[in-house]
Amino acid sequence: MKVAIIGVGLTKFGELWESSFSQLFVEAGISAIKDANIDGKDVEAIFVGNMSGGRFIDQEHISSLIADHAGLNPIPSTRIEAACASGGLALRQGVMSILSGFHDIVVAGGAEKMTDVLIGQSTQTLATAADSEWETFLGMTFPGLYAMMARKHMEEFGTAREQLAMVSVKNHANAKHNPYAQFHFDITVEDVLNSPMVADPLRLLDCSPITDGSACVILASEKRAKEFTDSPVYITGSGQASGTIALHSRKSIPVVDATVNAAKEAYKRANMEPKNIEVAEVHDAFTIGEILAIEGLGFVDIGKGGKATEEGITQIGGKIPVNTSGGLKAKGHPVGATGVAQAVEIVLQLRGQANGRQTDADMGLSHNVGGSGGTAVVHIYEKG
Ligand code: COA
Repeated sequence: MKVAIIGVGLTKFGELWESSFSQLFVEAGISAIKDANIDGKDVEAIFVGNMSGGRFIDQEHISSLIADHAGLNPIPSTRIEAACASGGLALRQGVMSILSGFHDIVVAGGAEKMTDVLIGQSTQTLATAADSEWETFLGMTFPGLYAMMARKHMEEFGTAREQLAMVSVKNHANAKHNPYAQFHFDITVEDVLNSPMVADPLRLLDCSPITDGSACVILASEKRAKEFTDSPVYITGSGQASGTIALHSRKSIPVVDATVNAAKEAYKRANMEPKNIEVAEVHDAFTIGEILAIEGLGFVDIGKGGKATEEGITQIGGKIPVNTSGGLKAKGHPVGATGVAQAVEIVLQLRGQANGRQTDADMGLSHNVGGSGGTAVVHIYEKG
């Protein structure tokens, strides 16, 4: 399979009081259209990742809102929801629409505006992505669920509390070089260990923040891509898998089966193996998330993610740089946009446009998770 990404666009991530939800999407979309060197008239369809417009901004019917405010009526617009994996799935739907022959040029994007409600409401809204009868009803939140995964990983594999903190230290250091990131400050392991407790053992500096933001990419069929660019980045693999929505149903709590299975499909379609990947954006909604991801994606053995992080293999300059953008932890996590923003970072890396955080990668991967692992989406990218 081969679908080209010919344009990318992002808004700044953070607390964006001055912009509305649709303004954010349109801003990212226009940047991507300009970057692709196409005209709005070339766009044949829009796929929008959005987790919870209804609860965050009192707005459903996001698909229509976006097409209308982007001035793109009457082209078809479709909203895709899979909690924090909504963006990754919107990207996959765009890829599939091109591979099916239905469309030649589409926008795949995502947006979320999370800071217009108080923290209690955002926590509760995010928690709707867990099993409402077995988890949320009993008071469980996402920091709580990932805390249990962290605790189990520490118990089963001897992962050290400091190793979790090292994920955050690295991602904050990377975000300093990303002008679109929410946070631009360095932290130390001690800062993480001394930050306020959120859900034991996870502290404030182990958590991704609450974020407003949007990201878009322009996807094109191989044949049309050549009209607009000599150097597209190709998506050559795509995988999606479902796992149990509730943690207690997993056969192993510190292994995210959906990640393992989505990666298997993506590697197979791209005819690649984990060792071929040279840069990756993974779902570090909490520090333990990055450790689970590098294990599930096959970069390191199950149980070895903490040690590998400590050894520096995921740093820029290491064997497999992970979250060069700053990741969800420091770039920010506007849930519906995250999966697409990950694709944007990989494209910048493969084009050589990731100023200050550049790697020498020709092959990349993105990994987006919904909830605690009920959904996972993996994409593989190659320089054209
Ligand atoms: N990392 C670093 N700093 C953070 C932060 C984070 N995750 N979240 C907030 N801050 C900073 C703020 O910038 C603010 O700094 P300031 O005082 O210098 O302005 C300070 O901490 C307090 O911020 P506030 O907004 O009051 O924090 P909060 O207590 O309302 O929220 C969390 C903190 C951790 C509860 C919230 O970020 C959260 O819920 N994160 C998880 C999101 C999530 O579950 N996503 C889905 C994943 S599946």
